[in-house]
Amino acid sequence: MGFWSDKRVLITGGNGFIGSWLTEKVIGQGAKATLLIRKESPVGISSIEAVAGKAKLVHGDLRDAQLMEKICEGQDIILHLAAVTQVLYSIKNPQETVEVDINGTLNILEAMRKKNDDAFLVFTSTDKVYGEPKYLPIDEEHPLSAKSPYDASKLAADRLVYSYYVTYGLKESTSRCSNIIGGRDSNILRAIPSFVYFLMQKRRPVIRTGGKNLRDYLYVDDAVRAIMLLAEKSDKSKGRVFNFGTGKPTSVLELAKKVAAEFGPGLEPIIQGKVVPGEIDKQYLTSKLAEKELGWKPAMPLEDGVRRTVEWYRKNPQWTDVIRRSSSYYGYDIEAIYK
Ligand SMILES: NC(=O)c1ccc[n+]([C@@H]2O[C@H](COP(=O)([O-])OP(=O)(O)OC[C@H]3O[C@@H](n4cnc5c(N)ncnc54)[C@H](O)[C@@H]3O)[C@@H](O)[C@H]2O)c1
Repeated sequence: MGFWSDKRVLITGGNGFIGSWLTEKVIGQGAKATLLIRKESPVGISSIEAVAGKAKLVHGDLRDAQLMEKICEGQDIILHLAAVTQVLYSIKNPQETVEVDINGTLNILEAMRKKNDDAFLVFTSTDKVYGEPKYLPIDEEHPLSAKSPYDASKLAADRLVYSYYVTYGLKESTSRCSNIIGGRDSNILRAIPSFVYFLMQKRRPVIRTGGKNLRDYLYVDDAVRAIMLLAEKSDKSKGRVFNFGTGKPTSVLELAKKVAAEFGPGLEPIIQGKVVPGEIDKQYLTSKLAEKELGWKPAMPLEDGVRRTVEWYRKNPQWTDVIRRSSSYYGYDIEAIYK
C-alpha cells in the first residue's frame, strides 16, 4: 500500500492550475480527496473532469472560517493551494488579496488548531517572497522581501504558517516553487497561457516587458512531485521551507520563442518594452536543500516541458474559452494586451 492510499486529503484550490494536476495524482494513488472549489470559479470543474466523480467537492470560500473548520476536520493531510495568484490582479485588488491569501490561510491554520491538530499541512508559498535577489541562485536563507501585494501576502502567510508550527506545534511544511509551466493554466497574465492563447489563433505572442527578465521555469509534474514529497517525508520536511526550481535562468523572450517555435514560423514574439509594476528582474533558485533532504530533483528539461505544455493546449482547444472566461471574470480585456 502506497503512502497516499486511503489518506484523507483536503486540497484547497483543487481545480486551479497546479491543484488540478495534484488532485489527479493523489486520487490516482488512492487518496480520499476533498476539494475546496470557489463557488463562482470561472474554471469550474472543467480542469478536474476526469477525477471529479471520485472526490468530494465542497463549493465555498477560503474566507469562510466556519466552513474551513468543517472541511479540515478529519483530514490526514491538507494541501493548501488556494489563493489570489496573479501579481497584477493583486495590485488592483490588494484588499481581496490580503483577505484570501493571509486571512484565508489563517482560517485553515485556526481550523487545524481547533479541530484537527494532528493533520499535516503543506502550504504552497512562492519564490516571489524573496523579492529582487541580493544574490543568485536564491537559496532558502535569502532575505525575504516583497514587491506586490501578492508577494507580500504570500510572505505573510508563509511566516504565519511557520509561526503555528513554532507556537502550537502544528505540523506543516512550505514549498517555494519558481514559475511553473504546464497545461490547464487559465491565468492570462502569466506567460504560458497568454502566449498559447494567441498562438492557438495563429497570432504572435506578446511580451509586455523587454523580455530580458530571467525566470526559472519548472514543469508542473515536478512541482506536484515536490508538494507530495513534503507530505510523504514529513519527518524531514516538518517546520521547514524548501525551494523547488530548476536552477536554470531563462529569459521571458527565450521562453516565448520556444513556445512560438512549436507553432511554426512567422509567429515571433512582439516585445512591448513596457514597465510592468511588481515585475521582478531576475529570479532563479537553488534546490540543493530539497535534493539533499527529500531526494527531489527536477526531471523535466525545459524543451520537453514546453513541448508537453503546448501539446496539452492543442489537445484541449476549448481551453482558450476557459482563459477568455477567466480573464473577463478577473476584469481583463485580453485584446488590450495588443495595445
Ligand atoms: N503557478 C505558479 O507559477 C506558482 C509558483 C509558485 C507558487 N504558486 C502557488 O501555488 C498555488 C496554486 O497556484 P496556481 O498556479 O494553481 O493558481 P490558480 O490561480 O490556477 O489556482 C488558484 C486556486 O485558488 C482558488 N481560489 C482563489 N480564491 C479563492 C477563495 N477566496 N476561496 C477558495 N478558493 C479560492 C481558485 O479558484 C483556484 O482554484 C498558489 O498558492 C500560488 O501562490 C504558483
